[in-house]
Amino acid sequence: MRGFGTTIFSEMSALAVQTGSINLGQGFPDTDGPPEVIEAAVRAIKDGHNQYPPGRGIPALRQAIADHQQRYYGLVYDPDSEVLVTAGATEAIVATVLALCETGDEVVVLEPTYDSYAASIALAGAVMRPVTLHGPDYRLDVDAVRAAMSPRTRLLLINSPHNPTGRVLDRQELSAIAALAIERDVIVLTDEVYEHLTFDRAHIPLATLPGMRDRTITISSAGKTFSCTGWKIGWVCASPPLLDAVAATKQFLTYVNGAPFQHAVVAGLALPESRIETIRTNLRDRRDQLRGGLLAAGLDVHPCEGTYFLTVDVASLGESDALAFCRALPGRIGLVAVPSSVFYVDPGPARSLVRFAFCKRPPVLDEAVRRLRKLSTAGAPSRTRSDTHEVRSPG
Ligand SMILES: Cc1ncc(COP(=O)(O)O)c(C=O)c1O
Repeated sequence: MRGFGTTIFSEMSALAVQTGSINLGQGFPDTDGPPEVIEAAVRAIKDGHNQYPPGRGIPALRQAIADHQQRYYGLVYDPDSEVLVTAGATEAIVATVLALCETGDEVVVLEPTYDSYAASIALAGAVMRPVTLHGPDYRLDVDAVRAAMSPRTRLLLINSPHNPTGRVLDRQELSAIAALAIERDVIVLTDEVYEHLTFDRAHIPLATLPGMRDRTITISSAGKTFSCTGWKIGWVCASPPLLDAVAATKQFLTYVNGAPFQHAVVAGLALPESRIETIRTNLRDRRDQLRGGLLAAGLDVHPCEGTYFLTVDVASLGESDALAFCRALPGRIGLVAVPSSVFYVDPGPARSLVRFAFCKRPPVLDEAVRRLRKLSTAGAPSRTRSDTHEVRSPG
């Protein structure tokens, strides 16, 4: 079943190892985040923060999350009743969907989708209603969102900055979502894990729009901002009735998680804004570095306003099957990427699209760019056809 079994990340990672390829398939950095954050984690372990933390997260972290929302977005949340710490954004998403959806309820999502959405919705017995964002610009089609909504719509699940397209929704698109949510009296879950990793346009949290604070469940995570995806410290900000429902579900998923890492993320959230700006500009430079290499290789590169990912259309190289292209790429030039079709229910619009991650060290990207130059001279591509795979790993 699509969404919790059909990604090919593991196959591609295995191919990367077998062929000694550079792995630009999976979306995690190859360096540690800010040293203060790493040191705070070590200190927290040594200071004995190794037992179950409080159910909603340590007070210092809930306060730091509330401060962060106020400092960056002017959003005021009460750390005791409106903030919950979770095992990454992944747990926050599944706990929210399980808490709010009954069997047969419908959840409208933006497709391509991060792969845990379909699984979370299926676990709740709910039905996913995808609205496709079409490249190369991936603008939101508001009429398509309206058409996907029905009397059974319980949630709109919006991801911006968006994985895998790199799209950052603008105020006009967000206002249209807000108007629909208010008109139909629907709750919106926003996945904002890449909130600080935007390059051309600032991220706007939906909860800042008029009338949206109390109908938006805002989810984020430390993993992407502080390059600590393995720590799995995420959070939810929402009005008390919504937060209570999510917290009630969360307690039976993991109960609590990551005690020492919660302390470390306090240190991360306390970093001055200039440090976050440096993280953003470094990543933007890497986007540009890889983008240059992809363009030079003759690939049609879609715009990317945020996240870790660039999308290319391999049709510009005369290829029509991105999965076959990705399977052949390690052997051809020693590079791994993933076909974007794994993020779609119906891969029709994405059959020739490929996602490359640029959250890697500059020398690694330099070498990737060097290998990409060989693309036009590396011999005929494989024409093997796609089939399905039953393995999931983070993406
Ligand atoms: C859009 C999106 N949401 C959620 C997650 C998961 O975040 P976490 O690792 O905090 O669970 C990811 C990770 O890749 C993601 O890309």
